[in-house]
Amino acid sequence: MFTLIFGVCLWQMSDQELVEAAKATLVANDRGEWSPPTSITLYPHQWLWDSFFYAIGQRHYDIERAKTAVRSAFRAQWKNGLVPHIIFSEASDYHAGPDLWQTSRRSRHAPRHVETTGVTQPPVAAEATVRIGEMLKKKERRLWYEEMYPKILAWHQMLYRERNPREDGLVHLVLSWESGMDNAPPLMEVLHKHAMSNRVRIMQLTGLDKWAELRRRDTSDVPAHERISTLDLHAIYDLIRSLRHHNYDHQKILAHHPFQVIDLPFNCILMRANEHLKTIASEIGEKLPDDIVHAMRVAPHSLETLWDDATGFYYSRDAISGELIKIPSVSTFLPLYATQLPKERIRFLLKHLHDPKKFGTKFPVPTTPVESMHFKPHCYWQGPTWININWLFIDGLRRNGHHQEAERLKHATIRLVRKSAKKHGFHEYYSPLDGSVAGAPNFGWTAALTLDLLKTT
Ligand code: DGY
Repeated sequence: MFTLIFGVCLWQMSDQELVEAAKATLVANDRGEWSPPTSITLYPHQWLWDSFFYAIGQRHYDIERAKTAVRSAFRAQWKNGLVPHIIFSEASDYHAGPDLWQTSRRSRHAPRHVETTGVTQPPVAAEATVRIGEMLKKKERRLWYEEMYPKILAWHQMLYRERNPREDGLVHLVLSWESGMDNAPPLMEVLHKHAMSNRVRIMQLTGLDKWAELRRRDTSDVPAHERISTLDLHAIYDLIRSLRHHNYDHQKILAHHPFQVIDLPFNCILMRANEHLKTIASEIGEKLPDDIVHAMRVAPHSLETLWDDATGFYYSRDAISGELIKIPSVSTFLPLYATQLPKERIRFLLKHLHDPKKFGTKFPVPTTPVESMHFKPHCYWQGPTWININWLFIDGLRRNGHHQEAERLKHATIRLVRKSAKKHGFHEYYSPLDGSVAGAPNFGWTAALTLDLLKTT
């Protein structure tokens, strides 16, 4: 027994070593004002929600650097309030770069000083802003909140003004990349149903996708079976061309674009972000505008329309057919992050969490239940465990009063990262079955959020 424990200690990092290694990863990825998600060329630009997760980790050792991470994500905010999901750097070796998006040429709202994509990503800015604020003295916090409030507010207002045609507090996404869970099975279901362009169908029929696979840039960094499929990726490229064709005008996009989803995780994050915005507003003596107050009032009721009694899951909605996308995924847990759920709902969710056929794996929480036909343990958002999703879930469990569950998941998450940190560092995602690493190495948000979990109680 002693030899076993001693052996484990030798090849696994202690908490302190893990903290130091996480910091070292964040520092090594740092480009001064922003950080790419990983050290390798797979993602060579500034990604939006990555920046906020970075900040949540960076605040533990350099609060000014954490502020810069949040600020820099807004340096390319569009005139209509949209905060783009990528701000392009000079790097030219990215598979969906400025030539594909052409936002500065096509949209009157896009900035001219820097190239960006024309879609957004989950609004974690308010969360990061408040987490930083909590560590500042009152006067500094007020200045920080005064700086960030108008920017975050403009973003949320854009989402409700331009992406919420039903005015029910749940916004539509127009590309799976907006959800951050790029190839999650529910999103791919909508893609396959409504958005396979003729070009992509021909590729599929003629087998040209096999040829296209050889030309992919991202799969020279990460094995193809750990990434999105070539056909799905090409369907996404064509959706970007459709957004471009509509000059990134949301009115036209909602009227004609073939991919529209009321995404459960994005909307849960937005609901929580509004609560944070309310905290920020009250600290600086601002009154939240009516549109945000309305959205906050109706969203919890609208969220309940995404619950399916028969299966006991929350789902995203296909906004084109109007139907729930009844493919269970880890998203079902995010309403806990959004709000206070009724006990009965939580009972169902915890049952799923512990069910070994669903989410009760050795290294939880898989993004897709193990019994699902879509489950692939190493493939991107189709099965692996992601540290940012666990982090949101842990926070939601705590705020819903399930402290023991939160602690259990926190320790399971740290155990998963620790298992391979000495040999492989911090990875993009992990197999929920055996904890093996997948995706990109030196992954910023894995390091940042592990650091945060270790530093907070
Ligand atoms: C990619 O390049 O695959 C990104 O995830 C898009 O956000």
